[in-house]
Amino acid sequence: MSDTETMQVVYRSDYRPPTFWIDHVELEFDLDPHNAIVTTKITVRRNTDQPSRTLELVGEQLKLLSVSVDGVALNDDEYTASSDLLVLNDLPARCEVQTKVAISPVTNKALSGLYQTSGNFCTQCEAVGFRRITYFLDRPDVMARYQVTIRGDKSTCPVMLSNGNRIASQDLGDGRHEVVWEDPHVKPCYLFALVAGNLKCHRGSFTTASGRDVALEIWVEPQNIDKCQHALVSLQKSMKWDEDVFGLEYDLDVYMIVAVNDFNMGAMENKGLNVFNSKYVLASPETATDDDYLLIEAVIAHEYFHNWTGNRVTCRDWFQLTLKEGLTVFRDEQFTADQTSAAVKRIDDVAGLRAGQFAEDSGPMAHPIRPESYISMDNFYTSTVYRKGAQIIRMYHTLLGQDGFRRGMDLYFRRHDGCAVTCDDFRQAMADANDTNFDLFDRWYSQAGTPELFVTSAWDESAGRLTLSMRQSYPDLAGDLPGTKDRKPVPLPIRVGLLDAESGAELSQYNDVLLLETESADFQFEGLDRQPIASVLRDFSAPVRLRMQRSDDELAFLMAHDTDAFNRWDAGQTLATGMLLKMAQQAADGQPLDEPKLFSDAFAKILTDDSVDEAFKALAITLPRESVLGQEMDVIDPDAIHTAREFFRRSVAGSHRDQLTALHQSLAADGPYSNDQQSINRRRLKNVVLAYLVSLDTPETDQIAADQFSGADNMTDQQAALAILANSNAEQRIAALDEFHRRYHGDPLVLDKWFAVQASSSRAGALSEVRRLSGHSGFTIDNPNRVRSLLGVFSVNQSVFHQADGKGYELLGDYVLLIQSGNPQLASRLVSAFNSYRRFDTGRQELMLRQLKRIASEPNLCKDVHEIVQRALKF
Ligand code: TRP
Ligand code: ZN
Repeated sequence: MSDTETMQVVYRSDYRPPTFWIDHVELEFDLDPHNAIVTTKITVRRNTDQPSRTLELVGEQLKLLSVSVDGVALNDDEYTASSDLLVLNDLPARCEVQTKVAISPVTNKALSGLYQTSGNFCTQCEAVGFRRITYFLDRPDVMARYQVTIRGDKSTCPVMLSNGNRIASQDLGDGRHEVVWEDPHVKPCYLFALVAGNLKCHRGSFTTASGRDVALEIWVEPQNIDKCQHALVSLQKSMKWDEDVFGLEYDLDVYMIVAVNDFNMGAMENKGLNVFNSKYVLASPETATDDDYLLIEAVIAHEYFHNWTGNRVTCRDWFQLTLKEGLTVFRDEQFTADQTSAAVKRIDDVAGLRAGQFAEDSGPMAHPIRPESYISMDNFYTSTVYRKGAQIIRMYHTLLGQDGFRRGMDLYFRRHDGCAVTCDDFRQAMADANDTNFDLFDRWYSQAGTPELFVTSAWDESAGRLTLSMRQSYPDLAGDLPGTKDRKPVPLPIRVGLLDAESGAELSQYNDVLLLETESADFQFEGLDRQPIASVLRDFSAPVRLRMQRSDDELAFLMAHDTDAFNRWDAGQTLATGMLLKMAQQAADGQPLDEPKLFSDAFAKILTDDSVDEAFKALAITLPRESVLGQEMDVIDPDAIHTAREFFRRSVAGSHRDQLTALHQSLAADGPYSNDQQSINRRRLKNVVLAYLVSLDTPETDQIAADQFSGADNMTDQQAALAILANSNAEQRIAALDEFHRRYHGDPLVLDKWFAVQASSSRAGALSEVRRLSGHSGFTIDNPNRVRSLLGVFSVNQSVFHQADGKGYELLGDYVLLIQSGNPQLASRLVSAFNSYRRFDTGRQELMLRQLKRIASEPNLCKDVHEIVQRALKF
C-alpha cells in the first residue's frame, strides 16, 4: 500500500452504492505456495442509479498478469493498474471482465487472504481479505453467485474445498487434480472460502424439519480426527435450536467446518464452509477443559447462526457490522442459556461485558455499536460491536417478549432475505411487526459510552407507597470521539422486583419491566404493608452502570434472598467491591486492612444453600477481577488492588478453612470423568474452592493442589490445579509445570495452556518469567494462539503488566513492533492494552506513553496499529 492510501479514513456518511453490480464470479486457482495464479471472470452490470462507465476494482499486494474485457485483452492505455487498484474506463453497460494475478500464500503472515497454515492452504476474507486474492468490488453490498475451480497437487492437496456443492472433479494427469464448486446462493465476497491440503473428515448428518438430509463434515489434520465429536454434536444441537426457536432451516446439502492452527480470530462463517481456529473445534477430556467444551459449543453455534443472520441477510457496509454480529451473539447467548443454565450464562456474559466492553467504552477506542469512521475495519471487531451490540438486541427482546421478537425476526427475513441491509432496517422490522415505534433506539446505535443509571428510593409509610426515582446520564469522555457529544437519553428497560424486608419473600405482583426513556422519571409501587427492598435491573436488563446507594446490610440481604439469580450474584459483587476498594485505600495508606466479616458470613451461607447449584455458588464466591475493581477507582492503583484482593481471599479462606477443605474433598468425583452438567458444575466449584485453599500458603493446602494435579483424569482439574500452583509459592510449582510441559509439549492447544497459566500468575517475579518464556523454544510470533496465550494473557494481568518500573510495558512494546509488520491484526489487539493509560498515576502514564510514542515513530507502521496508537495519543 502506498503511504497516502494507508492512512485513509473511511466515513459512514460517505456510503454510495457501487457504479457496477457483479452478478456472477468464476474463480480459478492454480495453487502453489509461492506463486498461486488466480484467474477471475466477473459478469458486471452498470448500476443505473449510479451511472458511470468506470469500474474501480480494489486489490492488495497483487501482481497483475493480464486483463481483458469480453475476451479481448486490454492495451496498456485502456486501464490503469497498481498492486492495489485496477481502473477500467469506458466499459459497456454489461460485460465480462477477466483478470489474472499471482499471489504468494507462503509469505502471507497476516492470515488475511490466501495463506498457508501447517502446510495447508486456507483463506480468510472478512472484512477486506478478498482483495488480497483478486481485484474486486470488495464490499459487502455486492452480492454474486460463485463458481470456483481449484487445481492443486494430488499429494499435498488431496482435499480441495470451497463454498456450496462439489459439481465436478478430474485428474489432470501431471500429478495434479481439479475440483469445481458451485454455490447456488448469492453472497458478498467476504464469505468466499477455499481450503486445500491434507485433511481428514469426521462425518455426521442432520435431517432438517422439512426432511432434507444435510451432510456434516468436520475437516482436521489427520492426528486430530479423534477430537471432533463434540464439535459435531454442537453443530447438530445448533441446527435443531435454530429450527425450534426461530424456524430457520439450513439451505445447502453440505455444511463443512475446517479447523486450522493459525487464525486471527475465533472462527469464520463462510457460506457452507466455516473456517475455525482449531481451539474452537478440537476436544477430548484429556486435552480440553469444561470451559473449552462450552466455548466450542458456543462458537460452533455462533457461526452456524450466521447462516441466516449475516449470510442470507448481510450488511450493506462495514459500519453495519453489529447488524450481524450483535444479533448473532445475542442468538448464541440465548442458545447457550437454553443448553446450560440461563442464570449462570447471564452472569458469565455480564462479567465479560463489564471487564472488556465497559473499559473499551470509556477509553480512546470508545465508539457507538455502529461506528462513524475507521482507518482499518479490522480494528472494529470489538466487544462494543459484538457484546454491547448483543445487549441492544436483548432489549428489544425484553420489551417485545419471545413471541414479539420472533414476529420481528420473521418480518426481517421476509423483507430482506438475499439482501445487504442496515441496522435501521432491522430496527424498523422489529417495530413494524409489533406495531410499535423504536425510533429512540436509534440513539443506542449512534452514541458511545456506558450510561449511568442513578436510582434512589423513597418510602411513604402512611400511603404504603415506594417510589423509585431514576435518572440516566453519560459520564464525560476525554478526547473528541464521534458519538460522545450532545448525547441524549436512551430507552432503558429496567426489570424490577420487590422483596419483603423481613422474610425475604418475593412480592411477585410487583415484578415489572419499567421503561425509562427520558432523562429521569419516578416509578411508584402502591399498596405495600411495610417498606420492601427493591431489586433493580434484574437480569441486567440494560447495559448500564447501576448507581444505587445501598448499605452493606441491604446488599447482604439481597445476596441471601433475591429470587433473581443475576441480582443475587451482583449484590455479592457490589458488597465485595465496596469492601475491597476500602481495603485498597487502606493498603495505599499503609494502614492495617479490615477483616471482610460481612462477606465472609454471606460466603459461608451461600456454600450451604441447597436452593442454588454448584455453578452459581462458584460464581457467587468468586471475587471481582482486579481490572473491574480498577474501573471503580479515580486513579487505578494496581498494587493496592492486588494486595487488598489477596488479603480478602486469604482472610475468607482462613475463616472457613475446614469447611472449604471438606467441600473440596466432597466435590471430588467418586467415579470416572463425566461430562454431564452436574459434574461440570461440581468441578467448577471445586476449583474455585481450591484457589481459596491454596491462598492460605501452607504446606497442607499446597499438597491438596499438588494431589489434584497428579491425580486428575481430565484437563479441567489438571489445568486448574496447575494454574493455582503457578500462582503460588508452593514448592511443587516448578515440578508441576515441568511435568505438564513434558506431557503436552507436542499438543499446541495444551502447550498454549502452559504458557497461559504462567502469564496469568501474579507471584513475585512473574514478569521476568513472562520475558523468559518469550524466548522459550516453544514460543513463536507466527501463531496467534501462542502469542495470545503468553502476551495477550499477560497484558490483562493487571498487577504484573502494570509493574511500576514499566518493564511490562516495554515487553509488550517490543512484541508489538516485532509482530506488526507480519500480522497487523494481531499486533493491534496487543497494543490496545495501552488504551487505559490515562486511568493510571502519572508515573505509569509516562511509561505507557513512552511505549506508545516509540511504536508511533516506527517508520513502516501498519495502519491497524497506527489507528489504535493515534487514537490513544490523542485521547
Ligand atoms: N465474522 C467472524 C465472526 O464473528 C469474525 C472474524 C473471523 C473476523 N475472522 C476474522 C473478523 C478476521 C475480522 C478478521 O464469527
Ligand atoms: Zn460473528
